[in-house]
Amino acid sequence: MKGIILAGGHGTRLRPLTHVQSKQLLPVYDKPMIYYPLSTLMLAGIREVLVISTPDALPSFRQLLGDGERWGMRFEFAEQDEPRGLADAFRIGREFVGGEPVCLILGDNLFYGSGLSGALQRAAEIQTGACVFAYPVRDPERYGVVELGADGRAVSLEEKPSAPRSNLAVAGLYFYGPEVVDIAHALTPSARGELEITDVNRVYLERQQLAVEVLGRGVAWLDAGTHESLLEASQFVHAVQARQGLLIASPEEVAFRMGFIDARQLAALADALPGTTYGRVLAELAARAAA
Ligand code: G1P
Repeated sequence: MKGIILAGGHGTRLRPLTHVQSKQLLPVYDKPMIYYPLSTLMLAGIREVLVISTPDALPSFRQLLGDGERWGMRFEFAEQDEPRGLADAFRIGREFVGGEPVCLILGDNLFYGSGLSGALQRAAEIQTGACVFAYPVRDPERYGVVELGADGRAVSLEEKPSAPRSNLAVAGLYFYGPEVVDIAHALTPSARGELEITDVNRVYLERQQLAVEVLGRGVAWLDAGTHESLLEASQFVHAVQARQGLLIASPEEVAFRMGFIDARQLAALADALPGTTYGRVLAELAARAAA
């Protein structure tokens, strides 16, 4: 399975922070925002990732992430010159996807919690059809909203409805078979002028090929698209890391735990981060593994 991180857009809701800086490079406590969705893909077992961003920001993403080799990954980069909607990722990424199943994650979506990696790895087994994640929220009108029937299957999907039919938001993490590329190519822009991911998911719903996994209360799903939510995400990560002495969404740590790199490679990555808590935690993990 391949992965795509959509890290484009103008970040207008985060101005002036985003006047010269891409939203997905802003800090969420101690690391750049894109580390969080990247780690989520890695936990799903995905090792080939396409990062899509604006022509202005793409060089910074290349500089930050490189070719991925040091993390046992392979990164590619592609430009989105104008924000044309989430489903545009499959038009831009057509060649990268190359007939394989693919997972799309939004660059400002953070997932953390118990049982998450199992759910991700199950979803990543998909060969055809779609699997999306639903999460109860207080303000469903801000999101794609899914309504489930008594059997747990989706009965309706709406993008930012003024009168939501449920409190279940569709999170920005989508697993698809390779046919998603053709579905995205056949879409027409919505009333707000965007190629909507909700329209892609509705095609799967009509084909009865849409699986919806409800994320339980043991999982935190945060987006960091506004000043409040960005601060809350930083506070959340700080609180958990300070208490546990572990790192949330460190690509180095996930690469090691997933077996993409060994303890010696992890130790070398830690050495490159001297004088930081981040580097110390990685060094301790490498030392424990080598002992
Ligand atoms: C997008 C999707 C929406 C989804 C949300 C998750 O909204 O259109 O369906 O629920 O991401 O973060 P946006 O963030 O572009 O407003």
